[in-house]
Amino acid sequence: MKTQVCIIGGGPSGLLLSQLLHLRGIDTVLLEKHSREYVLGRIRAGVLEHGFAELMREAQCGARMDAEGEIHDAFEVSDNGVIKRVDLKKYSGGSSVVVYGQTEVTRDLYDARDKLGGTVIHNVEDVALHDLNAPVPPHVTYRDGDEIIRIDCDFVVGADGFHGPSRKAIPKDVLREYEKVYPFGWLGILSRTRPVHPELIYARHERGFALCSMRSQVLSRYYLQVPLTDTVADWSDAAFWDELRKRLPAGIAAKLETGPSIEKSIAPLRSFVAEPMRWGNLFLAGDAAHIVPPTGARGLNTAASDIYYLYHGMVDHYLSGDDTGLEHYSEKALARVWKTQRFSWQLTSILHTFPDASPYDQKLQSADLEYLLGSDAGLTTVAENYVGLPF
Ligand code: APR
Ligand code: PHB
Repeated sequence: MKTQVCIIGGGPSGLLLSQLLHLRGIDTVLLEKHSREYVLGRIRAGVLEHGFAELMREAQCGARMDAEGEIHDAFEVSDNGVIKRVDLKKYSGGSSVVVYGQTEVTRDLYDARDKLGGTVIHNVEDVALHDLNAPVPPHVTYRDGDEIIRIDCDFVVGADGFHGPSRKAIPKDVLREYEKVYPFGWLGILSRTRPVHPELIYARHERGFALCSMRSQVLSRYYLQVPLTDTVADWSDAAFWDELRKRLPAGIAAKLETGPSIEKSIAPLRSFVAEPMRWGNLFLAGDAAHIVPPTGARGLNTAASDIYYLYHGMVDHYLSGDDTGLEHYSEKALARVWKTQRFSWQLTSILHTFPDASPYDQKLQSADLEYLLGSDAGLTTVAENYVGLPF
């Protein structure tokens, strides 16, 4: 099999890039380890920056997002019961975000690939990357039952998430990894209930952080900061709702509509960046290269700028013979990646309780939050990061 760009990973990063390239006449083959049903069964975040939303529209995948997604011009932060509204539109110069589940984004992308007749191969095993930085073009192999399939290509894009093989194909003496692990996780619950508030609420509380989010007006998403030692079995639905009420302002807690969880899981929080994001003819994108704690809702949105830079770099390569975009991909992508790392770390550091925090540390947290939300300069920095820094 031969193609121009072999993309490993059928999550939103790989799918969006394959769709964008296809529309410009560039041939791709996408390899996904799991079935489509498995991929679409993952519950992920739900806030899209305006830049990501624009890319979905350019990829001819934005119709359902625009029809069913909700435009949010603000969110709330509560600090031990006192609420402050962060007016995104006012402090970002007119931008907002779209609340629309990542699962739906991925579904729309798969549907679009089907509509265009894109080559997406599921249930591939033992993917291996070859000749990534050699005088000959790269190729990728995978196992289909007893058969080894070879795909010859010009470029390989590793959009295979944190646990995929692409990052690991970069030699250890070339790859630099940066990581920060947080001493807590997020227990998330999905329930077919009316959201407690029309906008998201990020709640700082001495008992721990909580987040009130949503997927629609009939599907709510809530999170509680929990110790890393907790398991889902430790948390009945009733215990979850009781603890959530304790961390929310009384007026909000009184309005909380509870119901059975249709999904409940715990995710640890980490910050991670791998450099470089290019090695020879291999390009890393999305979670394969970077992970953020979900506090700033930057996960998928950071992948968006990787895809934007790769898309334009490859179009320039194939349509104009101009390799500037590809040559500068890693440095350009990383420049924005580190800014989203900073923002995610900042919100995580300010809004969560840290087991080893001293009383002085806690006073600093309060002062940090008070400054960020109590000044135009602070609100501007929060808003312009949350709606998405420019690509
Ligand atoms: N071979 C083929 N596919 C693989 C392999 C492999 N060896 N290993 C992993 N994959 C697939 C996974 O099954 C997954 O579907 O790569 C895909 C990577 O998708 P994501 O993990 O969703 O990463 P990405 O597309 O970059 O999207 C980033 O997803 O995890 C969230 O918070 C994250 O919102 C962010 C978004
Ligand atoms: C979500 O709705 O899952 C969500 C929203 C905002 C975040 C994190 C998660 O910061």
